[in-house]
Amino acid sequence: MIFLIKLTAIVIAFISHHHEAIAATLSPYSSAVAPVYKHTDAAKPLYSIQIMTTYVNSTYEHANFLIDLDAPFIWHDCILLWNTFADTCPANTLCTYPVSCEEYQCTDVRTTYSYQNPSCPPVNNGSTLPGWGYCTCPVNVVDPITGTCGNALLDYDEFTLSTSNGKNVLSDFYGAYPNAACAPSSSFQSFPANVSGVMALSTSPYAFPAYLNEPLTRVMALCLPSTLSAPGVFFYGNSSYHLLPQSDVDIRSFLSYTPLINHPDSFRYYIGLNSIVIKTRSIDIPVNTTTKLSTIEPYTTLRTDIYSRVVRRFSLVTKRIPPANPVAPFGLCFNASVNGLRVPDIELNLQNGKKWSISTANSIKQVTKDVACLTFVDGGATSEPAIVIGTSQFEDNFLVFDLENSLFGFSSSLLRKKTSCANFNFTLTN
Ligand SMILES: *[C@@H]1O[C@H](CO)[C@@H](O)[C@H](O)[C@H]1NC(C)=O
Ligand SMILES: *[C@@H]1O[C@H](CO)[C@@H](O)[C@H](O)[C@H]1NC(C)=O
Ligand SMILES: *[C@@H]1O[C@H](CO)[C@@H](O)[C@H](O)[C@H]1NC(C)=O
Ligand SMILES: *[C@@H]1O[C@H](CO)[C@@H](O)[C@H](O)[C@H]1NC(C)=O
Ligand SMILES: *[C@@H]1O[C@H](CO)[C@@H](O)[C@H](O)[C@H]1NC(C)=O
Ligand SMILES: *[C@@H]1O[C@H](CO)[C@@H](O)[C@H](O)[C@H]1NC(C)=O
Ligand SMILES: *[C@@H]1O[C@H](CO)[C@@H](O)[C@H](O)[C@H]1NC(C)=O
Repeated sequence: MIFLIKLTAIVIAFISHHHEAIAATLSPYSSAVAPVYKHTDAAKPLYSIQIMTTYVNSTYEHANFLIDLDAPFIWHDCILLWNTFADTCPANTLCTYPVSCEEYQCTDVRTTYSYQNPSCPPVNNGSTLPGWGYCTCPVNVVDPITGTCGNALLDYDEFTLSTSNGKNVLSDFYGAYPNAACAPSSSFQSFPANVSGVMALSTSPYAFPAYLNEPLTRVMALCLPSTLSAPGVFFYGNSSYHLLPQSDVDIRSFLSYTPLINHPDSFRYYIGLNSIVIKTRSIDIPVNTTTKLSTIEPYTTLRTDIYSRVVRRFSLVTKRIPPANPVAPFGLCFNASVNGLRVPDIELNLQNGKKWSISTANSIKQVTKDVACLTFVDGGATSEPAIVIGTSQFEDNFLVFDLENSLFGFSSSLLRKKTSCANFNFTLTN
């Protein structure tokens, strides 16, 4: 039956695609939208996107997927079922249709879009499912939290997102039909509670953005919340974006853009950083230093030569604040509470002259009641990429990945604009 559903989906997709081509301007929505949650119950702070999976008993089931800008493909807690006439999906289980070892995608994912990790064993073809006659397609997956290698089986999947006009949620749904992979429930033990998958948001042809097509334009926006009490927001589509209380302001008017830098054989996101400026003093970054954006690293990681210069300068401009012994992984801490602590902005001077200002909320973290630390950490003398910008610096910053024009847009702190990532109005309107 899944096969029939797939067929129907393809036919409907074809019809609606045709329909969209004629009526693109009549599309009632400009983006797909999903809530983004912060989790603090795993080894490090992590963020998930909530999407709809199966449709049962007239409602959609929801599942949370870890947001990973680096992952080559999507994988989650599910099992393969090739014949739903004969087999039924067990309760509380997500069942999807297998990709066989003979299909093109199997070779493509294994050879070109796989996880690159020396700890992963070579993959073989899987055993056949009873009655199916083909071998399944096992692929390696790397747990982004522990770095350990695991196994998953490539599938034909089906995800549903809500749609938006940039201000509210609309009643239309948007369906995406990616090839993803099914991993056993035990693969998600290191994950935050209720997070049972990895949402690949990279530029890989097997990552989620590649499956979000017309009428949506290839622009992805991510706004990570700093709080657990209300969700942040993910958009896909070249929409206007609005956050309360200024629901008439298009957040795009706050953005500066810098080019995304392509690295051959990589589907990750890199930008060009020329210097880090702290209170008018500029710390130059060596030419061709790689700066990656990561939703898995919680803190900005700098190669030691860059890190020591940043910390030296930052200590100097904060010398009136009483110091505290550093608390790992941080190297610079203060005997202070972040509320009421004011430190100079750390300005990232980007390749095309644009400045990303990192203000106190994004540079200092309260570690204990009376200790607050600088959330830039030492990556080691030979770390590559030399600079990884992490999620402490992203929270409450509106980020746009314009994949059409290969541009990265950033707002700097939304708190300075009297809003935050937790301020999207998720109310359904018609
Ligand atoms: C669907 O609803 C029926 C009747 O209420 C119930 O027995 C069944 O367990 C439900 N199925 C799922 C997957 O929730
Ligand atoms: C898997 O099976 C396919 C089809 O029979 C074959 O072309 C491919 O070489 C096999 N791959 C591995 C890794 O055994
Ligand atoms: C997990 O999800 C369930 C059901 O949606 C909810 O009741 C529970 O509070 C969630 N747990 C956490 C830790 O978020
Ligand atoms: C998005 O929309 C804006 C305003 O309508 C336009 O200037 C821009 O070129 C569009 N970008 C893409 C990638 O379509
Ligand atoms: C930086 O990279 C460019 C392009 O790869 C290369 O031409 C140039 O020589 C590099 N500069 C340095 C200082 O390594
Ligand atoms: C912070 O300063 C207070 C007052 O001087 C002192 O009592 C406390 O021990 C200090 N805490 C740390 C962690 O240094
Ligand atoms: C959220 O949107 C709904 C529908 O447009 C609107 O009625 C409501 O006032 C909005 N909420 C806030 C806090 O503005």
